[in-house]
Formats: sequence, structure tokens, C-alpha cells
Amino acid sequence: MNDLKISKECSDTFDNIIETRRSVRFFKDEMPPKESIEDIIKAGLFAPYAAQAVNESEYFRKFIVIPKNSEKMKEIAEIAKNKAKLMSEQLKAQMEKNPYLKEKGKSFSKRLELFANKGVLGIGTAPYYIVVAEKKGFPPVEQQSLAHCLQNMWLKATSLDIGFHIVSATTQMGEDEDFCEILGINPGEFGLNGCAVGYPKEIPPKTSRPAVDEVTKWMD
Ligand SMILES: Cc1cc2nc3c(=O)[nH]c(=O)nc-3n(C[C@H](O)[C@H](O)[C@H](O)COP(=O)(O)O)c2cc1C
Repeated sequence: MNDLKISKECSDTFDNIIETRRSVRFFKDEMPPKESIEDIIKAGLFAPYAAQAVNESEYFRKFIVIPKNSEKMKEIAEIAKNKAKLMSEQLKAQMEKNPYLKEKGKSFSKRLELFANKGVLGIGTAPYYIVVAEKKGFPPVEQQSLAHCLQNMWLKATSLDIGFHIVSATTQMGEDEDFCEILGINPGEFGLNGCAVGYPKEIPPKTSRPAVDEVTKWMD
């Protein structure tokens, strides 16, 4: 058995990283070094995956790194913007027919409209946009696996003083033929999510959380 003893000091450092993590959405132009990006990817690769769903295959996850000023980024940003436009129109049409959606979908609809006009935040607005592709299987739990992966990447980025935010518009792109062709994957074969990574322009304030005892119920 491996020796899994973790020192108190390491555990305190880990708490510090967890509490320091936040969504960074504005970045300096400076590109973080390739080694740091690889370290972040390694952290994502070590996150749990649904082994049974993908028949224990070792190649269950891929990472595609797109730098800000690349030709591919221009193409991808345009595809994502057009997708946001389409989704915005579809959602507005659905909201007209569905009173529940009309109320609950307001804020998401505004965000989609913004992306449709200005482009998707995180795609072309950070030094790197990283797409993570998780092989689909049965049961279909690839998005859950991706969430674990992105969280590991986020914490590792934080430990390197690198800013990070999720680009969840990526989850809508897994069937898009043009997007998948650029990434070099088959449309529909993978679930997708993504993140934007770079040095923070400024550190955003901590978002608040309730105290543990306010959200915890201990059973007798
Ligand atoms: C499922 C999920 C999707 C998210 N999608 C986005 C996103 O597309 N863009 C973004 O900037 N932040 C996204 N976030 C980040 C949240 O907005 C953020 O975690 C929350 O506001 C708390 O702020 P903090 O991360 O600084 O603690 C997402 C978070 C989750 C859990």
C-alpha cells in the first residue's frame, strides 16, 4: 500500500489554495509558460473519471490548448459567437411560449445575448482557452467527470498564481462539426467543457459562503 500520510502543513496549504481560488475573468497579456499549462493539465488528468462508463479505457480524456493570438482561436471564437446567437434566438422563442422559462431564463438569456453580440467570454479573452473532452459512455456521466477535472485544474492553477474561469458555453459545442473538426475530435464522441487561463489582471474579491454549521445537519 502507498504511504498516504499528508502533513498538517500540506493540509493547511491545501485549505489556503481552496480559499484563494476564485473566478478570474480579466487577464494580463503575458502568456503563462507551457510547463505551467502542462502542470494544470496533469492535475486535470489525475481527477477521477467514470471508469466503468468508458470500459476502463486509459484514453478517456483529451485537452486541447488554444492560444489567444492563434488563427484557430479566431475561427473558434467566431463559431462560438454564432452558436451563442443561435441559442439566444432559440431560448427567446421558448421563453415566449413557456412562462416558467420566461421568469427563470431571464439572466441566462441576457448572458447569451451578450455573447451573441460581443463573443463568448473566455474564448479569445484570455491567454489560453483550454477545451477538455471526456469520452462519452454509459451511463452518460461525462459532464460529472469533466466537473471533477476542471476543479483539479482550477486548484492547480490557483497554486501557481494563475487565474482561471470556467467557459461553460463549451458544453454546447460537442456536436458542432466545425468546432470539432478544428479540435480534431469526432462530433458527438466526447462531452466537452472548457476554461480560460492566464495571469490575473486583478484579483477579484472573495465570494461569500455561509458558515459550515448554517448548511450542515448532523443526524443523531
Ligand atoms: C457549472 C458551472 C458553470 C459555470 N460557468 C461559468 C462560465 O461559463 N463563465 C464564468 O465566468 N464562470 C462560470 N462559473 C463560475 C461561477 O460563476 C463562480 O464559481 C461563482 O460565481 C462563484 O465565484 P468564485 O468562483 O469566484 O468563487 C461556473 C460555475 C459552475 C459551477
